[in-house]
Amino acid sequence: MAQRKKQIGLAIVGCGVIGRMRGMIAKDYPGIGWIGLADMNEKVGNKLKADIGADYFTTDYRELINRPEVDALIVATSTWAHVEPTLLGCAKGIPMLIEKPLATDARQSFEVLEAIKKAGVDACVGYTQRFRRRFLVVKSRVDSGQIGNLTCLVTRAFMNRMAPLGEVRLTQDRRHLTPMVVSGTHSLDMCRWIMGPTINPVSIYARSQDKVMGQHGTKDATFGIFQLDNGAIWSMNICWALPKVWPGAVYGLEIGIVGDKGVIDIEDTHRDLVIASEQNQGPAYRPEGHTEDTVRQVEFLTSFPPGDVYDGELWGPLREETWNWYQRIYMGKKTPHATAQEAHDNLMLTMAMDLSAKRGKEVALPISPEELMAGLNE
Ligand SMILES: NC(=O)c1ccc[n+]([C@@H]2O[C@H](COP(=O)([O-])OP(=O)(O)OC[C@H]3O[C@@H](n4cnc5c(N)ncnc54)[C@H](O)[C@@H]3O)[C@@H](O)[C@H]2O)c1
Repeated sequence: MAQRKKQIGLAIVGCGVIGRMRGMIAKDYPGIGWIGLADMNEKVGNKLKADIGADYFTTDYRELINRPEVDALIVATSTWAHVEPTLLGCAKGIPMLIEKPLATDARQSFEVLEAIKKAGVDACVGYTQRFRRRFLVVKSRVDSGQIGNLTCLVTRAFMNRMAPLGEVRLTQDRRHLTPMVVSGTHSLDMCRWIMGPTINPVSIYARSQDKVMGQHGTKDATFGIFQLDNGAIWSMNICWALPKVWPGAVYGLEIGIVGDKGVIDIEDTHRDLVIASEQNQGPAYRPEGHTEDTVRQVEFLTSFPPGDVYDGELWGPLREETWNWYQRIYMGKKTPHATAQEAHDNLMLTMAMDLSAKRGKEVALPISPEELMAGLNE
């Protein structure tokens, strides 16, 4: 009789909105036999421990990662707090699923990437939208040459300002929590992934606007044009300052991909599923300790990128992404997760957009992490 495979001991650092979702799915995955949790917020961590029957909880992520039971790690801490737990995961030599971005400083992101390479660990980064049927079919059509060689791409991401207000609530250091670094990175990754690794940007020209979100320490919008090394042009745009009453509760996207033999036009604004109700729809993104009092009676449903909850369970892209990552680490399955290298490259491009907007000048690419940060911090 074949020997039974040893079940995985999973550590989840960060038990907020995303860590909770990944933990709920871990509870149901048959290849996971032990779950340990860490969060600096004891209430949030203990609640998740009780809800999924986790084996261990601590407020100190070091204690958790160093436990002998731990074979794999999810880093789901706040956007600016991924570096230390990830470096510890590298030292332990375990596979990781890290939320984007790797860091909010390009030099630290490079340091993390080097540590991952040196340790030879399998590190994936949470670009959840890759796990949607619509984007997988687009990628396969582009890869099989159905629209020929790419000539121009255009991306427009619109976000309700409720999302960034929830995002920045836990820190006052918001210098690098810009629309491109935090959220535009998802649609930027989508376009880069569809284009494939052989097409690379050689320059970026961008402009930003901060009329509404400037008072919260971030910006409203960044619009830019990348010149690509195959001669194509790519217009990448995000505004995350839409009014709270905008029916899209979180993310709405349009992408156009033009080739010399065809075109793919993606409408992903969620206007095809609308509710109008006498009851307030409230926010879709509800992190601990953040409330919204705006009344919203019309909503484009399914705009929250991770998915939606039915009967206590999450359905949608983050479920597919997380389950497939468990399959990857337990069964050795090949999956389309973003690599740490891709995540680092994405951060470099999003920050280069911010640098170009700051200088009001075109920035040549690639640029080193040192030059990028010197420019952004000057
Ligand atoms: N893939 C997606 O679609 C998606 C969607 C939203 C957010 N995210 C990403 O997921 C990550 C988490 O976001 P969230 O919405 O769950 O935020 P959240 O605020 O709900 O949760 C973050 C948790 O991390 C904890 N934390 C922060 N620093 C810590 C530390 N040093 N040690 C232990 N715990 C710490 C906080 O107490 C909090 O409970 C972020 O990186 C965010 O960018 C991804």
